[in-house]
Amino acid sequence: MTLIPCQRHLFDIPEEVAYFDCAKMSPLLVAAGEAGREGLMRKAHPWELKAEHWFDESERVRGLAARLIGAAAEDVAIIPSVSYGLATALRNARVAAGQTVVTLAEDFPSTIYACRALAAREEARLVTVARPAEGDWTAAILEAIDGATALVCAPHVHWVCGTRIDVEALARRCRSVGAILVLDTTQSIGALPLDLQAVDPDYLVAASYKWMMGPYSVGFLYVAPRHQQGVPIEEGWVTRKGAEDFRSLAAYGEALEPNARRFDMGERSNFALLPVAGAAIAQLLDWGVENIRETLDAFNAALEARLAAVAVRAASGRAPHYLSVGFEGGPPEGIEARLAAQGVHVSLRGDRMRITAHLYNHEGDAERLIRHLASALQGG
Ligand SMILES: Cc1ncc(COP(=O)(O)O)c(C=O)c1O
Repeated sequence: MTLIPCQRHLFDIPEEVAYFDCAKMSPLLVAAGEAGREGLMRKAHPWELKAEHWFDESERVRGLAARLIGAAAEDVAIIPSVSYGLATALRNARVAAGQTVVTLAEDFPSTIYACRALAAREEARLVTVARPAEGDWTAAILEAIDGATALVCAPHVHWVCGTRIDVEALARRCRSVGAILVLDTTQSIGALPLDLQAVDPDYLVAASYKWMMGPYSVGFLYVAPRHQQGVPIEEGWVTRKGAEDFRSLAAYGEALEPNARRFDMGERSNFALLPVAGAAIAQLLDWGVENIRETLDAFNAALEARLAAVAVRAASGRAPHYLSVGFEGGPPEGIEARLAAQGVHVSLRGDRMRITAHLYNHEGDAERLIRHLASALQGG
């Protein structure tokens, strides 16, 4: 493992901007922007588009995403959002009346709405695990899972408090009671390694626009091979066997791809956005996720110590790449906008302030953050 030097030169971030909000949205890599521009401009000359273009770029990007996740390409579907991926997973989940569906308090709304709808549809009971006082989410979730549990929908890293959940322990517990495990790795994939073979979730979903550094409206869904005969949520054509033969499309073959490709979204061959996702993932693989994790952990550890000195406390059990801090008596009114006015960008979620750095952040950013935060807290 190596600490990666600051990579700001690969982004378009003015010196006076201290951007600490990768948990909301990563900035675009310059190279990814160029790839996107080139992709978009394919539409300027549609006569140059061949049938294979509906397939080759999707397969290239699917392969890159699969490498990042640690999966085989045929186990990964291209989707537009986490809510889409969850709709697919939950449509195929067998849940009986009276069983439980387990979620975490304050989890991202896409998860909560999907699980609420599933529970209502199947007359199951929704169990919401309360945020534990000491931040040990894993123990609290394990306790909520029992023989009545049909499905657990959990993040790898909690988007509000930045706590890492031990997904291997969670998966073991789910297996032991026969519950389906759906993981949302939007706040981890690209910055925190996950041993997919060891975890072996039923489904794993991620939006690409945060730690994967991809575009908005592209995400990925891993589907365990045991669920690949499932039903997609759309009646698409590109997901059918033999779709490459455009002349025969009106034969309306019913057979779906025999793998996760059957769960791809309609128009998944997005000429503008897929090249952006591809360029971003290629860069992440080049840096190495272990190296990213270690570099961000070191940066955050130093920042955490300085934040403590200005009376801001990070949550315990934080993921290495994720800082989320609490304030005595809650965050001061208007602090997010006040910091933004000074070029410091963070995000408030609930009673926490997320301060999520990446490889483009440097010492000058940290210094700017501490200075303006200290001043805001002192009412200056
Ligand atoms: C944990 C988590 N899941 C999912 C999402 C995005 O969900 P969707 O793609 O459904 O908009 C976010 C965005 O903040 C998130 O933090």
